[in-house]
Amino acid sequence: MPATTPVPVRVPAKVNVQLAVGPLRPDGFHDLANVFLAVGLYDHVTATPTDPSVPGITVTCAGPGSEHVPLDRANLAVRAAEILAAHHGLAPAVRLDIVKDIPVAGGMAGGSADAAGALLACDTLWGTATPRAQLLDLCAELGSDVPFSLVGGAALGRGRGEKLTELAVGGPFHWGFALADGGLSTPEVYRACDRLRGDTPVAAPEADPALLAALRTGDAPALAAALTNDLQPAAVSLRPSLAATLAAGTAAGALAGLVSGSGPTCAFLAADAGAAARIARSLTDSGTCRAARTTTAPAPGATVLDATSESHA
Ligand code: C5P
Repeated sequence: MPATTPVPVRVPAKVNVQLAVGPLRPDGFHDLANVFLAVGLYDHVTATPTDPSVPGITVTCAGPGSEHVPLDRANLAVRAAEILAAHHGLAPAVRLDIVKDIPVAGGMAGGSADAAGALLACDTLWGTATPRAQLLDLCAELGSDVPFSLVGGAALGRGRGEKLTELAVGGPFHWGFALADGGLSTPEVYRACDRLRGDTPVAAPEADPALLAALRTGDAPALAAALTNDLQPAAVSLRPSLAATLAAGTAAGALAGLVSGSGPTCAFLAADAGAAARIARSLTDSGTCRAARTTTAPAPGATVLDATSESHA
């Protein structure tokens, strides 16, 4: 049954605790061993029915950095609504209201989160009850990280990151995040990675068994010892100031720090909630980032909220 009232969906950010990048493929992507961990920073996407005699998809966006989010078909949430409608042969009549808390172009899958959120919100609004496997296929069409935004928790992404195996994950893991001024373009960071590698042969990417074991058992020091991101040198080459941010988080007592995905957000694994709070305070005081946040992982994937009981605060 289609819903007649707005459908709010909450979607988490991610950090890549391992991002192993293989050689450039002929299709312009890279094969990955991408270990995603969903963290408790969330965007909200609400789908509201509009006049069915005037079909179309409109979008609004609020929150930090929202002035940089496109409000046309370049917005992945709009494309998500479009492909879901096309999949079911519907003429969409919907407004999508996005409230951002995930940093825009920050390497934490904010755009992917909005796409997954729009897909789930519209599927619920339209009563299309798309089977999970088909929703995941639509997510993969939208972008390499979108399937993980739907699933949440922790997962190993193979292929270009879209072929997911869900992982058992202990925890909670406590994190501090350093949010940067401005974003980085993911394609540019991958291009810089290729440039830095030059002609050096690149091994096929493989998940690290020690890292998977640390995730499973909730062992933060062991996870810290295994954190790797092959895109980090590229992100730092494009934004050299990230070296100071990483140094500030480590000096503040992080077990380890790394660039989140393609950056420029930096992620710091902490021993406990108190340590995460101290790291965030030190990062703020260091002046090496725009803002700092704390959160825990794992976080659940895209979730339809009860419109009457949850606010977007
Ligand atoms: O899949 P998505 O559209 O999010 O990817 C954005 C860009 O990031 C791609 O166009 C490509 O340049 C780069 N990318 C890549 N290899 C991947 C994923 C993304 O080179 N596995």
